[in-house]
Amino acid sequence: MTPFEAATHADPYVYYSRLRRQNGLSFDADLRLWVASDAQAVETILAHPDCRVRPLNEPIPPAIAQGIAGGIFGRLMRMNEGARHLCPRMAIEPALRSIETENIAEMVSRVVETLDNPLENPDELMFTLPVSVMAGLIGLPSSRLREVAGLVRDFTACLSPLSDAAQLGAAHCGATRLSELFTQLLRSDAESSRFLRHILSSGEAIDWSDHDALIANLIGLLSQTCEATAGLIGNTLVTLHRNPGLIADMHTTPKLVADLVAEVARYDSPVQNTRRFVAKRCTVRGNVLAAGDTVLLLLASANRDSYANPDPDSFLLKRTQRRTFSFGSGRHECPGQQLALTIACEAISVWLHRYTAQADHPCRWSYLPSLNGRIPKFYRGQENEQ
Ligand code: HEM
Repeated sequence: MTPFEAATHADPYVYYSRLRRQNGLSFDADLRLWVASDAQAVETILAHPDCRVRPLNEPIPPAIAQGIAGGIFGRLMRMNEGARHLCPRMAIEPALRSIETENIAEMVSRVVETLDNPLENPDELMFTLPVSVMAGLIGLPSSRLREVAGLVRDFTACLSPLSDAAQLGAAHCGATRLSELFTQLLRSDAESSRFLRHILSSGEAIDWSDHDALIANLIGLLSQTCEATAGLIGNTLVTLHRNPGLIADMHTTPKLVADLVAEVARYDSPVQNTRRFVAKRCTVRGNVLAAGDTVLLLLASANRDSYANPDPDSFLLKRTQRRTFSFGSGRHECPGQQLALTIACEAISVWLHRYTAQADHPCRWSYLPSLNGRIPKFYRGQENEQ
């Protein structure tokens, strides 16, 4: 197995544990990259100023550089360091943190009414719901949310090296339409959303007035929400299918759903790995990383390191001082963590509320093709896996 294959393997965790035992930071000569698998190595590299989110000579992947999706990619805080990272982050992070749980719950219940049978069609809960909630919080009109969820799925294809020409074409179209929708919103209706007003006023406070970067990062909020939250909800459904006893526990004590989602985020992360690119020669735990080297950080493996979480391979709802690397750490740590956990918690509560053991639920799954995401695709009894 390679660390890329591990992301969508049925059980990558024995392999990760072997990597950690051999060496928490080692060079894989076949893949020609460093692999960080233990918690200390992952944390150190994520905090390192010379380990950057993009290669210095390739800020935008060549496959999308010529189109509108590339223009958006190049402005995302996630894909930048320095001012292009810090300014949007300082404008958007406080707004994300200020969203109240009640507002999220209210938005979820509004969107749930528009979903197409989320129990038989888990994609609705996994993909359509979280993106629609984020888009609604930003202020896009409710009549547009379903369209937006589809456009965002199209756009996210530009973030994967596995996408083909047709998918990249659709990503450019999605990016064009999303830019139009946000341009309209900012021109006419920006005052209607408390969240957007918060972003605009935080931006003004730091003198950040880059309109194109604002639009790119609003699209970025939707794309960052899309697959990772779909994976978080999907992997929670996988856990419930594997442990039907948990379904009964959740019915008896609904407050446990928040603990369930938080432990799934650690135990079976939707984001299995991320990468860093060495900008300047540096030494990490006695290893010399040369400028131009790539490091693959196995977040899902770090979660299972006993240094970070005692008894790491046990699934414990009431784990004390849970340490979760699934949301990253350091300067690019996910600012949407709390929002994502709340949306997932609400989505799973909806599922539990409608669940009956007798119905023909989709209860087999495989994982969508990806080098870093772990997102289940569910099938019903007679359906074939593709
Ligand atoms: C409401 C849903 C979400 C939103 C709005 C969101 C937003 C973001 C944003 C804007 C960033 C870039 C931060 C920066 O570069 O400074 C980010 C990073 C990240 N997010 Fe999220 N996110 C969401 C859900 C999730 C979920 C469910 C996961 C996984 C469990 C996740 C994992 C990550 C990771 C690992 C990073 C950092 C990647 C790296 O440093 O290489 N996110 N997120």
